[in-house]
Amino acid sequence: MQILHVVGARPNFMKVAPVHRALASKNGVAQMLVHTGQHYDVNMSDVFFQQLSIPAPDVNLGVGSGSHAKQTAEIMIGFESLVNERRPDLVLVYGDVNSTVAAALVCAKLGIRIGHVEAGLRAFDRTMPEEINRLVTDQLADLLFTPSEDGDQNLEREGVAKEKIFLVGNVMIDTLVRLLPVAKQTKVEGVPEEFILVTLHRPSNVDDPASLRELLDALASISKKLPVVFPVHPRTRQRIRDLGLTLPAGDRLVLLDPRPYIDFLALQTRSRAVVTDSGGIQEETTYLGVPCITTRENTERPVTVTQGTNVLVGHDIKALHRELERVLNGDRKPHRIPPLWDGKASERIADIITK
Ligand code: UD1
Repeated sequence: MQILHVVGARPNFMKVAPVHRALASKNGVAQMLVHTGQHYDVNMSDVFFQQLSIPAPDVNLGVGSGSHAKQTAEIMIGFESLVNERRPDLVLVYGDVNSTVAAALVCAKLGIRIGHVEAGLRAFDRTMPEEINRLVTDQLADLLFTPSEDGDQNLEREGVAKEKIFLVGNVMIDTLVRLLPVAKQTKVEGVPEEFILVTLHRPSNVDDPASLRELLDALASISKKLPVVFPVHPRTRQRIRDLGLTLPAGDRLVLLDPRPYIDFLALQTRSRAVVTDSGGIQEETTYLGVPCITTRENTERPVTVTQGTNVLVGHDIKALHRELERVLNGDRKPHRIPPLWDGKASERIADIITK
């Protein structure tokens, strides 16, 4: 059986790593890895391949940045000729980025079977580009691997046949479980003993000048209480530059380039709290038991709120301050690790595919 994996953006890399590894241990499976080139900076891509021991991509489509239409279209054009040439038995796509939906569209029209890893997540917010990518990909996929039960319910509600849906757990946690011992031994230079960790890159936070300004002011004010460590996503850095804003960087507001996986995991384990708008970080903090405050109105990962350490504060800066105050005072909500987030999700996927 020939399986082709498609990845393109940073959050895909921690998901493909364990699935590729699990399939490599099966007899009769040949694998090929395609990188679309959606993320291309060394610290957004190459360093993840090294740290997660992912084999070098067999093909890089080199699409780079662009509008959603341009990026998606270029991936489709490049990927279509590749699929026609190689005719894989199954294409695996990951998460909700533009590379995911582009590859799914190509395969659906060429009659190639699609497996979607991290299927069924819904924020019920169609202003998010990722939500459109999730909806379309799940309608086209033949095998839908979900991380939690809400995913199964969403898919069934949307009319996806039950036989196609497999509740396998969270593959991102597989990578975390494997590398946590390494992260615990890793020293990250230039960060204080105690700190709050911040990441921001969602269009809803950083593309709107007023929101971005408000959030940056909030970070400056939070850093007066406890130092803030902020690895800045390229999109966010670009927006800050476009607006001519400057951040009062210094000892208490430490600005870093995006961190490699192991360093970022080390930072999460050591932080007093995390403030983020990322998807994956809501899950990782839930696993680690670190309080997470999410600056979004909704989440496609509701188990991180109902079972985990996550709290949504939307764009309400007062609520952000209030929640931070609460967790810094040691008032922690009860939390647990969701079922099947046990480091074995990829093995379950590999078993299902090979059967
Ligand atoms: C993408 C995903 C998002 C994911 C995020 C994680 C989509 C629709 N969005 O958003 O779901 O959470 O990745 O990082 O697919 N850039 C660089 N260097 C890079 C990559 C990007 O400078 O290596 C710049 C680009 O010039 C672009 C901006 O960052 O202007 C955004 O990149 P893009 O891939 O469009 O989306 P992300 O915001 O990263």
